[in-house]
Amino acid sequence: METRVITPEFVPHPDTKEAVSESIRLLQAGEVVALPTETVYGLAADALNPAAVAKIFEAKERPTFDPLIVHLPHKKDLAMVADVPPDINAVLQKITDRFWPGPLTIILPKKDIVPDLVTAGLPTVAVRVSANSLFKKVAQGLGRPIAAPSANRFGSISPTSAAAVQAELDGRIPLIIDAGATMHGLESTIIKIEPGSPKATITILRPGPVTAEDLKLYGKVKTLTRSVVDEATEAPGQLASHYAPKTPLRLFESPSDFIPDPAKRYALMSYRGEAKDGYINLTDWVEVMMLSPGKGKLPEAAVRFFYILRALDNLGVDEIIAEPLAEHGVGVAMMDRLRRAAVKF
Ligand code: TXA
Ligand code: MG
Repeated sequence: METRVITPEFVPHPDTKEAVSESIRLLQAGEVVALPTETVYGLAADALNPAAVAKIFEAKERPTFDPLIVHLPHKKDLAMVADVPPDINAVLQKITDRFWPGPLTIILPKKDIVPDLVTAGLPTVAVRVSANSLFKKVAQGLGRPIAAPSANRFGSISPTSAAAVQAELDGRIPLIIDAGATMHGLESTIIKIEPGSPKATITILRPGPVTAEDLKLYGKVKTLTRSVVDEATEAPGQLASHYAPKTPLRLFESPSDFIPDPAKRYALMSYRGEAKDGYINLTDWVEVMMLSPGKGKLPEAAVRFFYILRALDNLGVDEIIAEPLAEHGVGVAMMDRLRRAAVKF
């Protein structure tokens, strides 16, 4: 007998209606609300209301040179905020058919209606459609685009649970909607698309859950290295130092580069907790936390990544040491975040 398993994307809860209606009420009133998305929790405001958007920057202490992502109620609403260049229209259509709603953000020329505060004065706007059912209900009920950066203080670790949002923004925002842990655990992939023949060029500005492997069906994929991003300021918010715990974090090329100081207390962020990866036996760790216990699976590691980083940061150790991860699939996104989180030498 074949056993069937049906996993509903979202289990309705008696409070869902209130969560949605209260979120919409606050957004209409020009307030901010922390909402779950499938990547990380976002701090939402009506994207077309500059006074509301200003409250996002204030609550996060985010500098206004760092532009926000605009979330549409439906993919058909793209024309509300962006002008699609005719020469990328066909490839964009294929990409959005495949990945929206989902963890992919696309940079496109902006419409005048989008306030300059949202795009930090850039002529482009970052757009996506969230697949989280609660977020979708709110966006569709509001019927307007929603600006939402990750719901953390600027430069800090992205929140993947309502408790993490509370740790970051308690007392600064009127409402957090708790829909449990987020599905992917890492922020959306950000791309720009340039026309080309026979293939368009897709440039990954921020690696994320949609990988280079996923995108290569649709064009020639380039991934900007960190130094190129910083020099070109292609993704202005993609600062070299970001996602940083308060505890110094170090990432080594190889385990033998780590010379423990006997006077210091260390915690290890391990991929799968195995001695053969070379780190477990290097010192007497105060704590070892595993991203993917057992055999090691990158998507599982991604889901737990920010949660574990936050937990390690709360231990009060002198340093966090991170094992490097394989740079394929979503491992690319985690290594990007680790390099930004790490202490710069
Ligand atoms: O998964 C996500 O993308 C989450 C959820 C809440 O949607 N949001 C998120 O937003 O990660 P945030 O603000 O933490 O990161 C968005 C990044 C900015 O740092 C900036 O680099 C980039 O998007 N960005 C926004 N507008 C841009 C533009 N016009 N051109 C280039 N990069 C842009
Ligand atoms: Mg962020």
